[in-house]
Amino acid sequence: MIEQWMHDKLKKDIGEARYKHSIRVMNTSIELAKRYNYPVEEAALAGFLHDCGKLKGKINLLKIADDFDIILDNVMRNNVELIHGPLGEQIAIKEYHVTNKNVLNAIRYHTTGREDMTLLEKIVYVADIVEPGRRFEGVDKIRQLTDKNINLGLLYALDRTIIFVVQRGKLVHLDTIKARNQLLILKGLE
Ligand SMILES: [Fe+2]
Ligand SMILES: [Fe+2]
Repeated sequence: MIEQWMHDKLKKDIGEARYKHSIRVMNTSIELAKRYNYPVEEAALAGFLHDCGKLKGKINLLKIADDFDIILDNVMRNNVELIHGPLGEQIAIKEYHVTNKNVLNAIRYHTTGREDMTLLEKIVYVADIVEPGRRFEGVDKIRQLTDKNINLGLLYALDRTIIFVVQRGKLVHLDTIKARNQLLILKGLE
């Protein structure tokens, strides 16, 4: 389904461990696509490439983002872990020749989420958090909720991200807060 050269390139660019994680995210994205009636090919490609911007080795993410003409906001500049989302989108376009906007947005927003996420953005965001290699406390609850209602799974996945970031003393991206608030309001209306 995914061409062999893409497998070879991804493995070389992000390293073996992250490549394996990417395969698991691809498989979980496929499962969620089937569960929520989303085109499987798109979900597979987005899951496979979601971390293509997580280049291995000591690299200057600020410089690379600049090379790709990515305009970073203040939070991204001060929490460089988030940059591999928008950077991944540009690498997907320029080096993997991806043109599908749904796939590109799912790659771009998998680090922060955002308000009005598309179904594919939700699928990849959640798949990244619940893929079978993830072992943190509460992951099973997120898996169960995701199977019942993707918005609920996403809400708890966002909570987990926010808690994780706060515990490490890092900046929380406003898009993550906005995504969570929107889902929480929606949940209250259900
Ligand atoms: Fe990532
Ligand atoms: Fe990931």
